[in-house]
Amino acid sequence: MRIESAALTWDYRVAGEGRPLVWIHGFPLSAAIWERQTTIPGVRHILPDLPGFGESPAPGQPVQIEDYARGILAIMDQEGHQTAVVAGLSMGGYIAFALAGLAMERLSALILVDTRETPDTPEARAKRYETIEAVRKDGTGAVVDSMYGKMITPESQKDDPEGAVRVRAIMESATPEGTVAALDAMARRPDSSDLLPRIEVPTLIVVGREDAITPPADAERMRAAIAGAELAILDRAAHLSNFERADEFNRTVSSFIERIQQRR
Ligand code: MLT
Repeated sequence: MRIESAALTWDYRVAGEGRPLVWIHGFPLSAAIWERQTTIPGVRHILPDLPGFGESPAPGQPVQIEDYARGILAIMDQEGHQTAVVAGLSMGGYIAFALAGLAMERLSALILVDTRETPDTPEARAKRYETIEAVRKDGTGAVVDSMYGKMITPESQKDDPEGAVRVRAIMESATPEGTVAALDAMARRPDSSDLLPRIEVPTLIVVGREDAITPPADAERMRAAIAGAELAILDRAAHLSNFERADEFNRTVSSFIERIQQRR
């Protein structure tokens, strides 16, 4: 499926039937990173590719985190969903916070996966702009090389070689334009700390115990700030806890969704 929003073109896929759940992928990935989640039953999985990633054409102009959030809302409109569960992995979480800031009433629940609410430090921001220059000059190879080792644990790289190859291939499929736009959008993203106490929908936070990009301390801080939030820390998982520990991740999400259904 295709949609235009804020001069960006989005490709997305829908799978399954049940409660609508939008899965927002992280950087530099695509909706394919959720392929081990689409077996979760009772869910209408909505799987957008951010512009310049997966099947979505690259953006022709700078993008703000809020533009991505508006795109997700436009996809929900097109699919006829006034509300949905919104799940965001890392950068996808930054987008989920922007969506909550724009239209909290459209969230039925929130799933925050290996992400954080705080903005970049000045050092991290400067590093993003160095990376942008490197991508403009030499392409996305250096981004893949520097991030790959933090995505899944060395044990999983050994025990699940097919999964490891798949993660790398998904990372390598990102376009330079999409990569530059996302790095710039992340560098300029606002602090969402003040938003957390305003989140009143059921919230599940999941993090890999060995996540070095958004470590469990970030997840603990978000849990403390969001009333009633649940936290699952998955052992033997790094940044892509949903991919690396898919069975445990899926059981955790299924149980969360079942409990929300019962509350209705
Ligand atoms: C991601 O996984 O989306 C990125 O690591 C997030 C970031 O670079 O801040």
